[in-house]
Amino acid sequence: MADMNIALEPCDLAAVPDLVQQITQLGTQVANGDTQARFRLLKATRGLVNALETPRETMIKHCWAQPAAFTAIEVGIQINLFGALAKQGDSASKSSDLAQQLNVDPLLVARLLRHLAAMGYIHETGPDEYRATNFSKSLNIPLIGDGYPLITEDVQIATSTLPKFLKKTGYKVPTDALNSPYQFAHGTKLNMLEHLEEDPVNFRRFHNHMSAYRQGRDSWMDTGFFPVRERLIEGADKSSDAAFLVDIGGSVGHDISEFNRKHPQVPGRLILQDLQSVLSQIQAIDSRIETMAYDFYTENPIKGARAYYMHSVLHDWPDDVCQKILARVSEAMKPGYSKLLVNENVIPAMGADWQATAEDVMVMITSSSLERTEQNWRNLLEGSGLKVCGIWKTDNALEHLIECELA
Ligand SMILES: C[S@@+](CC[C@H](N)C(=O)[O-])C[C@H]1O[C@@H](n2cnc3c(N)ncnc32)[C@H](O)[C@@H]1O
Repeated sequence: MADMNIALEPCDLAAVPDLVQQITQLGTQVANGDTQARFRLLKATRGLVNALETPRETMIKHCWAQPAAFTAIEVGIQINLFGALAKQGDSASKSSDLAQQLNVDPLLVARLLRHLAAMGYIHETGPDEYRATNFSKSLNIPLIGDGYPLITEDVQIATSTLPKFLKKTGYKVPTDALNSPYQFAHGTKLNMLEHLEEDPVNFRRFHNHMSAYRQGRDSWMDTGFFPVRERLIEGADKSSDAAFLVDIGGSVGHDISEFNRKHPQVPGRLILQDLQSVLSQIQAIDSRIETMAYDFYTENPIKGARAYYMHSVLHDWPDDVCQKILARVSEAMKPGYSKLLVNENVIPAMGADWQATAEDVMVMITSSSLERTEQNWRNLLEGSGLKVCGIWKTDNALEHLIECELA
């Protein structure tokens, strides 16, 4: 066993001078508007924190500080603490005044805010006095705030069960979508989405959370990512009843609405397909977009569309389930005309983004699935009668667009 002393000394002091130098240089580039440098700066900054912290400090951060901050944020959302803080704009508030407005115990508010300030999530401006940050203001947006209670009430139960599940199953990667840590933890035979559907509040939170996670990063519909005009519009059937884009498992329509906004000139029909229970959550959608209740294990009524599109659908399922879904798409596609666009993570051999690796572990827990490497994708798609014509991405995108045609 290692000597306890290594747990009490900084993890890698020798790396500090070089990291500080990188951070200084990258800081200048970021200040000059280089958005790509921001990712490198964040990575170097995380590296600096890891190098400077002792293993004991990192352990306390994981075991106490982060869970305490997570739950303080969730309580704060529940009692509208961040709404009350945001109401003051950039002025500071006494925790006792906030507590009075919210009609909750002032000591509770003081203790929650003190930890959130210690973690840097809000500004501490004086004794028991705090000011909102952009982060705390954002918690008032359901797309951002809904993730916290969703994770606690639905997902965390499964993530915390992973060690027990793996011990029981001999430390093998789960591959059965209906026998994942999620079913084990919740004592259900339903898949995650079916299970969530039984809880309308968490179901809505889930769809908000899904809408949020890719925001602010390049999307394949943006200029310089995937050439929409050359690859989709040119050569498309221009008649008004021809299906142009079908978003399969498109949730409440955030992607197809974005496509409609960014490419209003495309010909034909834009169709959003998802389960009726999901479509019924839509509050408003552009009249150009048709909504169609559809189960992707069944025959697709829309034949020969210019493009079928699936975003974060296949990553929810292990290969055997994906093959069934893909078989239904392939049979609807018109040879030499239709494309399948798969918008997903493609995990590189090295240097994977932490958001993609986190998702990989999360989908293993929630549905025995995986975030796929390029080879995983080729095996799956080519094994389903498709050929990969291109894999598109920009540096600022989280996910790739995999363009396929019938083989
Ligand atoms: C992870 S979400 C992705 C949603 C959306 N494409 C996005 O990127 O935000 C998966 C979607 O698949 C839908 N889905 C699950 N089972 C389905 C089925 N059998 N038929 C159609 N859609 C289904 C879910 O309702 C959900 O909207």
